[in-house]
Amino acid sequence: MVPVNDRLSQESFQQAFAQKARIAARFYERLFEQTPELQSLFHNDQRHQQEMFASLLVTVMRTFDKPDALIAMAQRLSRAHKGYGVTPEQYAKAEGALIGALRDVLQEKFTPTVEEAWRRAIQVLITCMADRGAD
Ligand code: HEM
Repeated sequence: MVPVNDRLSQESFQQAFAQKARIAARFYERLFEQTPELQSLFHNDQRHQQEMFASLLVTVMRTFDKPDALIAMAQRLSRAHKGYGVTPEQYAKAEGALIGALRDVLQEKFTPTVEEAWRRAIQVLITCMADRGAD
């Protein structure tokens, strides 16, 4: 895990926390641009969905230096998505959509250190979700 203790990184996480709703909205925009066929899977109110996603992002941020908590969350999320029939390729695109959304919103605060910390966490989540995608 990347130590997330330099001042700039801490500022970036605060920024991500403050902008979580915009990051979530941008994630779904990017996801549906890239993989429009996934849109029909969503039945919840979009605003409610974005809030759930945003609160998950905050939990992810809190697990950057807690690998066990991250894995436990990845397993929960993967169970919650079981049965949607999402392919590994579609999950790979979701990974790109999330990194892109973080970059769009955080801009210069999305430094290489911050990006590395997010990429590692998101890879754990996506790998776990994609493994069970075809269950
Ligand atoms: C291709 C990628 C993905 C697809 C197709 C997908 C699909 C879905 C669907 C269909 C729901 C249920 C919502 C409804 O019924 O309207 C859902 C819920 C949810 N998704 Fe995803 N998802 C994807 C990736 C992700 C990722 C990467 C994350 C987090 C990093 C995430 C976090 C959540 C959360 C927090 C919920 C809310 C409730 C729950 O835990 O069951 N999803 N997703």
